Amino acid sequence: MRDRLSPADRRKARTVTSRLIGWFAGAARDLPWRRTRDPYAIWVSEIMLQQTQVKTVIPYFERWMKALPTVQSLARASSPRLHKLWEGLGYYRRARNLQAAARVICAEHDGRFPEQFEAVLALPGIGRYTAGAICSIAFNQPTPILDGNVIRVLTRMFGITTDPRAAPANARLWRLATALVIHATRNTQHQNPCSALNQSLMELGATVCTPRNPNCATCPVRRNCIAHHRGLTASIPRPAKRPRIVELHQAVLILERQGCVWAVRRAAGAHNTGLWEFPLLEEILGKSRVPGAPAPKPDGVLDSAGHLGTFKHTITHHRITARVYLRRNGLDGLRLPEPGRWLTGAGLRRAPMSALHRRIADAVLG
Ligand code: ADE
Repeated sequence: MRDRLSPADRRKARTVTSRLIGWFAGAARDLPWRRTRDPYAIWVSEIMLQQTQVKTVIPYFERWMKALPTVQSLARASSPRLHKLWEGLGYYRRARNLQAAARVICAEHDGRFPEQFEAVLALPGIGRYTAGAICSIAFNQPTPILDGNVIRVLTRMFGITTDPRAAPANARLWRLATALVIHATRNTQHQNPCSALNQSLMELGATVCTPRNPNCATCPVRRNCIAHHRGLTASIPRPAKRPRIVELHQAVLILERQGCVWAVRRAAGAHNTGLWEFPLLEEILGKSRVPGAPAPKPDGVLDSAGHLGTFKHTITHHRITARVYLRRNGLDGLRLPEPGRWLTGAGLRRAPMSALHRRIADAVLG
């Protein structure tokens, strides 16, 4: 793989590797997952850090590691406990995959986190980036990483102007990331140079080589950076095509009876599996609705329903507008969607919910 890089790329990879490792030794932020080399902790942090900012992740990571400090404790945890620990981070599939992988580790690896890259990559929810991050950070293996931060650093440094997510540029970027971390193995001045090199790329992308207004004056590799020399940091990396945002309109119904409200636990395969949500009006009416169609109105059917408010929530490619209705007492003729439960105020606080429904629950609880 490395052989397909030009001699100039290879020379540059060598120079920047030692600069980055040296820089990281002094510039690394003190983050909780950097105080350990426990592969379990590093894995949890990497999964949490996917699509979520460092400052959001820190309290979640600390709470999770206190509650579930080992692979075994994660494998045994109840689903509500897991979802509660993840509540607010979003993309709950990540938490379910963590547990599925913990169970594989217990069943197939005697409960010890595997060290072989291929075995790590085979675990549920772990792709090439995450396997590379875990193997380099926990075991100092020369396994490359490439995520949004690293793409930005490398495309700017090497002046890659084409779409970095498209196959040719992406393959070159993986080759460069590989060349850098292999050069790191020759560094004898630092204890865990592959770990330091990969983390330096993440760190540079997060703190210096930022998407807008990068702080080139403090960059350890500005002299090696083509984008900096040519004034191209604003146009490299080339922005991805924006996916179309789909508008979803929902009518949500809070059914209240004797101080309790009806909540539904989303089934496997559904969106937000394992989380509690208030029912959608069409579930109560027993009707299905084409996604994107206007939300049904409660007139006539729910004469006593009051409008509690409208909640907006954006997640990945969907913008949800939920009109929330509250119906107190009297369910006459209404079908309660299953599997569900009457939850007290305390039960509602405890139940793991999606971010949108947690905001609705907060409004209901006052
Ligand atoms: N982003 C992804 N992985 C990270 C890590 N280990 N430290 C800081 N930011 C990250």
